[in-house]
Amino acid sequence: MIVFAGSSSKRLGREVAEDLGCELGRARLKRFPDGELYVKVESEVAGMHAVVVQSTCRPQDENLLELLLLSDALRDLGARVTAVVPYYGYGRQDRAFERGEAVSARTVARHLELSAERFLTVNPHKGHILSYFTIPARAVDAAPLIGMSFRGRGRSLVVAPDSGAKALAEGVARALGCRCDYCDKKRLGPGRVVSSAERLSVKGEDVLIVDDIIDSGGTIVETAREIRERGANSVAVACVHPVLTGDAAERVLAVAEELVATNTIETRFSRISVASLIAEELRSW
Ligand code: R5P
Repeated sequence: MIVFAGSSSKRLGREVAEDLGCELGRARLKRFPDGELYVKVESEVAGMHAVVVQSTCRPQDENLLELLLLSDALRDLGARVTAVVPYYGYGRQDRAFERGEAVSARTVARHLELSAERFLTVNPHKGHILSYFTIPARAVDAAPLIGMSFRGRGRSLVVAPDSGAKALAEGVARALGCRCDYCDKKRLGPGRVVSSAERLSVKGEDVLIVDDIIDSGGTIVETAREIRERGANSVAVACVHPVLTGDAAERVLAVAEELVATNTIETRFSRISVASLIAEELRSW
């Protein structure tokens, strides 16, 4: 096996290669004067199993194209390609909410499988996006890693901002060994939500709010405010994918003591590495 770390997942790709004890592939990337991307694989890969690790996070289009070019070049050289996309950008448009909308989660899948033979991601926003692939497609769950990273740090209750994140929060709570509950969320528009913790008993609790994605931060900020107003002792926040658009991180840190994320997107908050999770899945696949 040989692992190629794309531009968006440089460190994570390297960690996966180290964990697997295999070679880190070499590829040359440059831009033509007009801005077009050029990719050249420089390692010998014929007959090998090549793993490309590349999140399609911001800049989404550039990262996606790099992944496609790299995978295609590897296939041309005779490698069998596994696309590891720790954060699957374009995944949130997982169906046509209105007639005529492109289902980007499916469009990306269709293009990836032109050159990849297998696909692996981490906590996709909706599990059913895996069914858009006709090649074997799997997802790994970062919840236990998040829970373990908070062990011994005094968290007494894990809260999901909405029912959609309940399963993730339950996984975190299980690994942490504490209670779990979820808020009721209503989305008013992009970045605008109202959250209700009326049902929950949060008084005096040291709460860990967990979500799959933090994008604008609207969901987490509203949830943290609501939980504080209802008497929580402290609030920490964790997510799998720190999209963190604009000043989202600052807004979250204004209402929470701490913000921790995994490295599916490499940010300064990405203190939990999913490398072992990915490596383990690849080893057993
Ligand atoms: C929604 O269903 C997701 O789980 C996240 O709660 C959402 O994507 C977060 O977005 P934002 O940070 O913009 O509220």
